[in-house]
Amino acid sequence: MVKVKKTKGSLEFMSKKATRRDVLKYTGLFMGSTVLGDGLLNSAKAFAEDRSSFLLVPPFLGRPTQESITVNLVAGDQEIVCHLKYGKVTESKVASWQKTEDFIIKAKGVEETVLSHLAPGTHYKYQVFVLPGGSSASQLADTGSFRTQRIDHEPFDFAVISDSHITPLKRDFNRFDVLRRASGSISVRKPEFLMMLGDNIQTFSSYHGGHLTDPEFGSWLYLVMRKGLGDLVSSTPAFLVNGNWEGENSWHPEKERGWARQARMAFIPNPDNTTYPEGGSAEEDFYGFTWGNALCLVLNVTGYNSSDHRLNTLKGRADDWTLGKKQRDWLHGQLSLSDAKWKFLFMHHTVAGKGGDEINSRYGRGGGRAFNVGEQSRLQDMMKEFGVQILFYGHDHVFTDIMVENIHYTCVGSAGAPWKFDTNDTGYKKYWTQSGYTWVEVKKDSVKVSFVKANSKNTEGEILHTYEITENAA
Ligand SMILES: [Fe+2]
Repeated sequence: MVKVKKTKGSLEFMSKKATRRDVLKYTGLFMGSTVLGDGLLNSAKAFAEDRSSFLLVPPFLGRPTQESITVNLVAGDQEIVCHLKYGKVTESKVASWQKTEDFIIKAKGVEETVLSHLAPGTHYKYQVFVLPGGSSASQLADTGSFRTQRIDHEPFDFAVISDSHITPLKRDFNRFDVLRRASGSISVRKPEFLMMLGDNIQTFSSYHGGHLTDPEFGSWLYLVMRKGLGDLVSSTPAFLVNGNWEGENSWHPEKERGWARQARMAFIPNPDNTTYPEGGSAEEDFYGFTWGNALCLVLNVTGYNSSDHRLNTLKGRADDWTLGKKQRDWLHGQLSLSDAKWKFLFMHHTVAGKGGDEINSRYGRGGGRAFNVGEQSRLQDMMKEFGVQILFYGHDHVFTDIMVENIHYTCVGSAGAPWKFDTNDTGYKKYWTQSGYTWVEVKKDSVKVSFVKANSKNTEGEILHTYEITENAA
């Protein structure tokens, strides 16, 4: 089955602050282009070496279920005919290959294909073959591997990154380098999946945390982010969480918010309400899945508020954040239904704030310090009632862990953001400001959480802090 998604944009310049021409100037590319897509193509090429002239970025794996996985592919500057071969790995080899139908990806187009009839918790390899226009011979364009959704209770590992704040601007190239380093280091460790906790991209042309000003910018942002992730997501299925810089906040104008949503859904195959029995949202912004003995529930904290929570507006309050009734009821339902031993929540920040001062509290900072503020106190009650062990979040750009009534509030660090917030902003007393990622080892009777500084993209990195939860076997 082939699912087609395409991103489209407008040629109008809608922002006085930054036009597409400005962006091209910042990236040093293709000055004066008026052809939609050329800027995008050249911008992406500027950030990293091309591994294949046929695919603009490495394949992105998403929606790993017990019997299928989705592969998202972006073509380069020529139309290609593609097919994928895939097979189960036994003793490092694939004995028999299955093959998808041929499908076309237009030049600079995005398409998805689903690899189906797979077995749960099983290791597969895949190969992407491309038939360039006018050619009669297929060429191997890319390869990867993955493990399908685990249903046994054997140990597994996953990685969590957050707040890369990727933009296509030259001045922000350092963020891109940090993300590359973290992604490479995670690849070395071979997790079964990756969580990305928001502010993965950064809208850059309106105001702080503002909306998109051009429909094409969404594609640029996700494309550059995918370049930063590199091969990691070709062999590790990834799940995205929305933060406050994705251009999808409830206080953004609906049209521009739609552009951001469309770009995310085109480039990132997140689960929707039908992917897993846990369900979620059709817009792929909150969802849940169970991996082995762990329930993972992903929440969108910025998409359903009625008040404006921009920094410094003094409109939204620390205690009026909300998930909205639909998402909150879904969360309660999934927590009450699950008999998984481990239960984890993933969100950009808590549904309230208690930072170092009022401004930062309104902005949702402070993690576990806000456990009894506003709607977060309802989440705290739910987590206690149904036995959630860890709430993973980002937003504050440091690693810290606060335990409240036996529940860990773990801020996972940042993998790109140039700003590290201190006690004045967050109220945290003990925290780590190094860039890095969080590594989670899930076992039958224990969960170990480590914060890892990514020193290079070829090594496992340096563990700066670890905590472990242990429970007797059920
Ligand atoms: Fe952030």
